Amino acid sequence: MSQDENIVWHTQTVSREKKQVHKGHKPVLLWYTGLSGSGKSTIANAVESKLFELGCHTYLLDGDNVRMGLNKGLTFSDEDRIENIRRISEVAKLFVDAGLIVSTAFISPFATDRAQARSIMAKGEFIEVFIDTPIEVCESRDPKGLYKKARAGEIPNFTGISSAFDVPISPEIHVKTAQQSIEQSVEQIIQYLKEKEVIK
Ligand code: PPS
Repeated sequence: MSQDENIVWHTQTVSREKKQVHKGHKPVLLWYTGLSGSGKSTIANAVESKLFELGCHTYLLDGDNVRMGLNKGLTFSDEDRIENIRRISEVAKLFVDAGLIVSTAFISPFATDRAQARSIMAKGEFIEVFIDTPIEVCESRDPKGLYKKARAGEIPNFTGISSAFDVPISPEIHVKTAQQSIEQSVEQIIQYLKEKEVIK
């Protein structure tokens, strides 16, 4: 008999509906995806600040920070990226269960992993936000000097150069950063949340 057969799901007394009424907004997961240097963290932070000002309960899981703790030791091999995203999606689900508006800002380059993250969430709770910045723009910004190193062959498996990025086919929100300011991108995301009645 496997151990799993002896594990039983517990139904909780404080329901999602009660939490939603308590917090005054719907719980959702804003799943930011995009190349390194595309602006994921900048936009996710600005949106979170705006939501916080509006009185929402929020939490942001951000790339490098999570790799320093929960996912310490994971590399940028395909296998480790898959595990990185799997753990992040499970943690994000817990925060959404707690009733928060959660944001995750990770490259999350593989469409199958993003689909897997979507599949564990309730309908309408997974909002894919594609931070669409052409690689030439990311490379010209190169805030951490990583593109330069990757081009010099000093970083293996670098997304967009020596590792794949699957362009999202139908993200809920498509942010074209080359065509608008950060403020306009933030407004685009906030407007979407209002239209879907996540926030008032
Ligand atoms: S992934 O693909 O979702 O598992 O990546 P993520 O956890 O978001 O980590 C991306 C940040 O790690 C730095 N970095 C690299 N990125 C891409 N490829 C390679 N090989 C790599 N090595 C280090 C980089 O600073 C990324 O940060 P962002 O914020 O995306 O620029």
